[in-house]
Order: sequence, then C-alpha cells, then structure tokens
Amino acid sequence: MWKSRMKMLRLVAGLLAIAVVTMTVFMDRYSFAGPQQPRLPARTFASEPAPGAEANNLFWVVQVSDVHISRFLSPSRISDFEKFCKETIPIIKPALTLVTGDLTDSKTKDKLGSDQFEVEWQTYQTILKRSKVMEKTKWIDIKGNHDTFNIPSLESVRNYYRKYSAWQKDGSFHYVHSTPFGKYSFICVDASLSPGPKRPYNFYGILNANKMEELSALISESHASNHTILFGHYPTSSIISASPGIRVAMRFALVYLCGHFHTLNGLMPVLHTRHPDGTLELELGDWMENRKYRILAFDHDLFSFADLKFEEWPVVLVTNPKSYLYSSYAHEPLQRILHSTHIRILAFSPYPIKFVKVMIDGFYLGDAVQVSESLFVLKWAPQNYSQGFHQIAVTVQDVSGKSATQLHTFAMQEDLSLKFGLLASWLLLTDHYIWVRTLFLLTVIAQVALLIIFRFREKPTFKKPLGVAVQTSFSLHVLSKTDLFFYSFLVLSLYTLLGPWFIGELIEGHIGLCFSFGLIINGHFFEGSSTFLVGISQVLFFNLPLMVYTCWCLLLRCQGHCFRSHLHHIKPYWTVPIHLIMSLLFFWQVFSCYFLLKTYGTLSFFLSPLRTWVVGLTLFLVYRIWAMESIVLRTFIVDMKHYQTS
Ligand SMILES: *[C@@H]1O[C@H](CO)[C@@H](O)[C@H](O)[C@H]1NC(C)=O
Repeated sequence: MWKSRMKMLRLVAGLLAIAVVTMTVFMDRYSFAGPQQPRLPARTFASEPAPGAEANNLFWVVQVSDVHISRFLSPSRISDFEKFCKETIPIIKPALTLVTGDLTDSKTKDKLGSDQFEVEWQTYQTILKRSKVMEKTKWIDIKGNHDTFNIPSLESVRNYYRKYSAWQKDGSFHYVHSTPFGKYSFICVDASLSPGPKRPYNFYGILNANKMEELSALISESHASNHTILFGHYPTSSIISASPGIRVAMRFALVYLCGHFHTLNGLMPVLHTRHPDGTLELELGDWMENRKYRILAFDHDLFSFADLKFEEWPVVLVTNPKSYLYSSYAHEPLQRILHSTHIRILAFSPYPIKFVKVMIDGFYLGDAVQVSESLFVLKWAPQNYSQGFHQIAVTVQDVSGKSATQLHTFAMQEDLSLKFGLLASWLLLTDHYIWVRTLFLLTVIAQVALLIIFRFREKPTFKKPLGVAVQTSFSLHVLSKTDLFFYSFLVLSLYTLLGPWFIGELIEGHIGLCFSFGLIINGHFFEGSSTFLVGISQVLFFNLPLMVYTCWCLLLRCQGHCFRSHLHHIKPYWTVPIHLIMSLLFFWQVFSCYFLLKTYGTLSFFLSPLRTWVVGLTLFLVYRIWAMESIVLRTFIVDMKHYQTS
C-alpha cells in the first residue's frame, strides 16, 4: 500500500512538473517574461502649424473591410458595394481607400467548405472598373484569410488576388502618401498564410521570421514620415508573430487598422483599444452584414476617425478638438489643440449642408462656416477649456432635412486618462492562442491525471452508506482498474494531444496532417491556434463527458443492473437526461465527421482517428459496458454488495 502511494505521488509530481515546464516555456516565449523593450522615446512636436480657418494641412482616408463578395449569398452585398464605389466615394473624396481583406467570401454553397471562385473575383474587379473608383481615389486592397482559402502557393492560378485585385502584389508593403505638408506612411501587414489551407483552420495570421523582418524594415523606413499607419486584415490578437512580435514592431505607428472579427456576430459593435505604448488598434466592423465603413482624418497631424454605416447621411467628423480617448502624446502633436484658432469639422452629404451647429459642455457656441467643400470651421478660444474634460457636440443638417450629431470628450492636459472597454481591450490585446493552448493542455492533463491516480490508488474500504462523492470515486476506481476502459480513455486523451486528428486534403490536391499543435502541409508547418480551441471543446464536450458516462454505466453494472433492468429500476428523471445529454454530445461528434467531410473532403473523413474513428470507438465502448460478462467486474460487484448491506 505504501509503495503504490509513493508511485502515485511520483506520477502526479511528474505530471505537474511537465505542466509547469510547458507553461514556463510558453510564457517565456510569448511576451510575459520576454526581453524588456526600451520605452518609446518621447518625441517632441512643433506646435505649428496649428489648426486655423484654412482648408489646409488636411486629408482623409476611407477604410472598408470584409466585403465577402459571394456567388451564393446576398446579392445586395455586391450591389451595395458598387453603389458605395460609385456614389459614396465621390461624395467623400478620400485621398486613399483601404480595403482590409476578405474581398471575396470563397465559401461553398453549404457555407462549410471553401474554395476560390473566379467569378467572385471577376465580380469584384467589374465593380472597380464599372464604378471607375480607382480614378477617384487611391484604392489599396489587401488579402484576408478568405482570399487565401485553398491556395497551394502564391504562384498558383487560384491566387486570383494577383489577377483581379487593384494592388495585385502579395506581401507587406509601404505606400507613401506625399502631400505639400508632409509624408504619410501606410504600411500593409500581410499575415495571410501561404500556402493557404481551406477553412476553418485558416483563422489566424502568421508572421514568420522572414515576414517579420520584412515588416520591421518597412516600419523603420517610415520613421521620417509625419505619421505611420499600419493596416492589415487580422487584429494583432489573431496573428502569431516571430520575435520581436507585431506589437513591438508597431510601437512607432500611430494606429493599426484591421477587420476580420466583423462585430463578433453583433456582440462587439465597437472593437477599439490602445496598446501600452500608445498605438491605437481599431478593428472595423464588416461590410458583409453590417455595411460598415470608416473615415480617418489627418488634420495638422491630429488623427481622428468615425465609424459609419453605408447610406447614413450626413456624416460628421470633428477633427479639432479631437477625442481624448483616441489621443497619444507619444504619437501626435496634441499641444496644437491649445494653439488652434478654430474648431474644425468635416461634413459630408449627397445634399448641400444646411448648418453645422457646435455645442461645448451643453452651451451653444455658434454655427461653423463652410471653408471648402467638406470643411467647416468655427472660431474658438481653446484656453477656456485647457483644464479637465469637456464635451463637444456637433450637429449637421443637410437640405433634405436629415441630421446627425457627433459627440465626444476632449481635453488638453496630458495627465488625464480615459479607458477603453475591458472586453474590447481583452479581445484585442490578448494573444488568444497562448491561453487556449494552456487551457487545452491543462484539460488533457487533468483527464490523464484522473485516470492514472485512480489506476494506482488503492480502493478504500468505505464504511458509510454510498453518497454521491463515494459513488463517484468508486466508479472511477472501476473504470481505471478495468484495462479496456483505462487504456481506451488514456489513448483517447493522449491521442487528442499528440496524434494527427486527421489526414486529408487541407488544400485541394495536397495532403496534409492536422494536429492539435498545428498543421503540416506541403513541407510547411503552421503553428496551431484555433486547433487548440477545437481541442478544448473535444475534451470538454466529448472525451470527459464520455468518461463520466462510462463511470455511471459501470456503477450501474456493479449494482447488478443490465441495460434493460436499469431502465426499469432507476428513476427516469435520472436516466433520461443522462442518456439524452450523452446522445446529443454523440451526435455532435457525428456532425463533426460530416463537417470534416464537407470542409476537407472524403479522404479526411475516413482518415480521421479523432472524428470518424472515435465514433466507432464510442459505439464499441458503450456496447462493451453493457454486454461484457459480470465476471470482469466481480471484485467490484462484491464490494458493492458489501457496502449496500453494511
Ligand atoms: C510634417 O513633418 C514635417 C517635418 O517634420 C513638418 O515640417 C510639417 O510641418 C509636418 N506637417 C504637419 C501638417 O504638421
């Protein structure tokens, strides 16, 4: 007894050590204890030029994201987008338009599979050509994950981005917008995968060492510019990046613009935050369902923006004084607000603007006057507002009678603070693949530890009547000490962690392997990310419940029941929900086989130990539980009799 205790203790200690080491390695590699980065050097800005009454030192940009042109779904997505190019862009007249990925939907009709459809790309190009939008603005379109589904290499003919997009060149790049008043660097962060696996394991972007180096070089090129603006498809929290990491590389940038998360199904209509060094990260909701777009203005190097909805006019954007929440003293000449002579407002509408009314802290200040097609100004005395927070509200009405109001808080003191929403910050600032990885590992370890502990722990002699805790422990003893079940669950657990989940056409015509920790395809290894999330749900919603269910069934067997008799003798409000829940989870597992068939094809359906084969294993285990001879369980049955009579 003493010996087996020691054995068990050593095993548990070993498992704990493995867990601790693995977690330390993860944490060390990913940022927590990484090398300390020097703080961003304080930049000094000239307080001139300061915003005044003239329409100068000002330009603006439009961003739109996640268009998802689809040959199967929602034709209005396409016609509205054409209208956006034909009508909205000429009204706003942005210097640049950034389309941050997922130009096409590239999903099959059943919405499960993925492929590149030339017709979707042709539709996209036709819209650009027919609307002549590229003559009206500098149109910069980049790839999203959907634009890279099922592409074996960048040279493949299926890489339609090269043929049908406006930009056409793969990879990160640096575009300089030159104006008489300064240079503005727009740098694309291309973290899309190449080769591009089919969905769903194509959700995270990856910047490997080469791509990271390229990007860092582009960013350092931009140091002489007035502003550096980064844009990409993936939020930084869904990019796996090599050292020094995307977040460190972009510290000098004013802002990182992205899409990809849409609005998280309407849960997070606003996903904005600020990184510790002051760089803003602004995710933009999708065009696909929500018809969102954004205007970003650079007025005397002060940055402001508005997230808008297609066809909602008039559009208002107050560029001076800008919102304090979105201000960074490390990146912008914010003291210019105090030196400015005028409040400045951009207003756009298909109709002439009737008035632009300005209120501060609830007091009417006056109507701004039009100094150019879109700029309205109103003289003010900023010194009156130099202390504390103030609210500015600007209402614009056009001659059609429609009006819109923009309201925000501004301030001119450096030592105040406003915070972004906790949830948005968590979603954008966390490296999600790290915690899902850790959680996955912990769930697997927990299950394995449970099996091993009960395998080697001596069965205690229970004196008391059988309570729930004692029954649970008893059933775990039965399961762990019966070879068939012990090894089945041990192998299932370890296999979920280590084995290839399936082998199949991750890209059409290219066989690859999918593991919990990543994909192997065409000699490339893509580090796992969403795979861990799938792994967690496999453990929590199948492996563990199946083990619990097996324990329960074994307990009934030890009490002398067979399948028929337990239905008659146990109260149905116990048995019905338990069998029902397990059946539902089982059907979920069956559905995941179908999902695999639809996403990665027939081969993966048959060569999938963790999907199709597990369905077989489950049926076999359940059959064995009820069909095996009582003699296998005889010692436990004797024990059980003993407890019941004592
Ligand atoms: C842009 O930077 C240049 C050089 O530092 C500076 O002279 C210019 O005033 C800046 N432009 C604006 C609008 O502040």
